[in-house]
Parts: sequence; C-alpha cells; structure tokens
Amino acid sequence: MSNKRPIGVFDSGIGGLTVVKSIMQKLPHENIVYFGDIARLPYGTKSVATIRKFAEQTVRFLVQHNVKAIVIACNTISAVAKDEVIKLAGNIPVLDVISSGSVASSNGNNIGIIATPATVNSNAYPNSILRLNNTVKISQAACTLFVPLIEEGYINHPALDLIAKEYLSPMNEIDTLVLGCTHYPIIKNTIRKIVGENVNIIDPADKTSDDLVTNLTKLDLINTSLDKPVYEFYVTEISPKFNSIGEMFLNTKLSTPQLVSLD
Ligand code: DGL
Repeated sequence: MSNKRPIGVFDSGIGGLTVVKSIMQKLPHENIVYFGDIARLPYGTKSVATIRKFAEQTVRFLVQHNVKAIVIACNTISAVAKDEVIKLAGNIPVLDVISSGSVASSNGNNIGIIATPATVNSNAYPNSILRLNNTVKISQAACTLFVPLIEEGYINHPALDLIAKEYLSPMNEIDTLVLGCTHYPIIKNTIRKIVGENVNIIDPADKTSDDLVTNLTKLDLINTSLDKPVYEFYVTEISPKFNSIGEMFLNTKLSTPQLVSLD
C-alpha cells in the first residue's frame, strides 16, 4: 500500500479546516481529502443517533477514497460516534480531537471547556480529562450560537463579542480553556479578549496533528515523496463561504470544493 494515499479529515463544516491547517504545517507533503457536511450542519444540536448516522456515512466515503488515516476533526463526532468511526475504519488508524485535546489540557488546575451542546451533554471531555488527572476542577459551557455565527462569517462582528461575553463570563476562575469545537479557533482573538492573557487556551488541533505525525511515523505511513501535495475538498453543499473563510483561515488559495451527496 502506497504512503501517498491521502489523510482523510472530516467535520460538519469549515471548522475542521483548523485541524487541516495544523496538519499542513507539520506534514507539508501529505495529500489530504477533506469532507465538510455543510448541508447538514450544525451537528452539535442534533441527536446522538443522527450524528452517528452522519458519521457512519462520512467514514464510508473516506474509506472509498482509500485514505491511510482518518482524523475526526469535529469534537461533536468524537464525543458521540468515535467508537462507530473506529469500527468502520477497520485497520485504518483513527485520530480524534477529544483524545488529543484532553492530553493537551490535563495539566491545568481549573479547566473550562466550551463546546457544542452535544459535546457538553456527552461529558466526553470531563470523562477523558479526569482519567488523566483526577484532581482538576472542570466546568463546561455549551456555546450553541458560535457555529452558526462562524459559518455566517460573523468573525469580527460586535454580535459575536456580546454572545461570547455571555457564554464565557461564568468561567471567571479558570486557568485553562479548551476550545472544544473545531470552529472556535477561528474566533480565538475574541475569546482571548474576554478571558484575558493569563488563561492557557488549548486548541486541540495542535496536539491532534502531533499525534498524527507520531502515528504515521510509527506505522511507517509517512509520505516521503516531495511532490506538491494534493488537497481535495468535498462538501454536501456549495457555499462560497467555504472558500472565503477557508482561505482566510488557511492563508492559501483553496481549490473549488466538489459537491457530494451521502444519502
Ligand atoms: N466543529 C464541530 C465540533 O468540533 C461541530 C460544529 C457543529 O456542526 O455543530 O464540534
């Protein structure tokens, strides 16, 4: 099997591009297939059964694309469907943002987690962090409105400031804040202004891409070819925002995404 096979990365929308960015920086020669289920987002307010069904369809799509590793670049899917993804992936390694983000945050003392309602309700982060360090204090906030605001491009907008203050003000004693949704790093500046300079903001994408490097190296799956990498983007709805926000965020021109239907 060739190591030129792509890495499959998926999310409900553009949020997973925050993970892609980190992968591109650390593994600049890897080919990537990205899938964003824009037509059906947000996932974070849907039922566990629905999210698991969507995740299952996406993993089948990625496996058909002959990926050599799968990165769940969505906390919501990691929280409620990781077992299903692992099962369907067979012997393809699966990385996910919650496992990596928990390790990255577990040496905090008073940890805040902001995430979608599905992720918060699952308790996946507290359970995973407490397994690593059972002395920490943990609080969570479901920030339901962040994803629609980000997908709408309201990234430097006063409405975002107001809503972010509302969500974050109860977390006034934390020393560590986990961005428990892959959309949130896009609004990190707004979050930083509210929580202040002394809070350690954890973007799980960093540790996830480190873990991907470790895994691919261990399994001898690193692409050693120095060819220009191929990045393919698949979406379930064509939205001009995918390119405009994606390009702003990745700081590179994106090829036009290809439309697919998973139903
Ligand atoms: N970006 C996803 C996450 O990390 C979910 C956003 C959504 O569709 O609600 O949780």
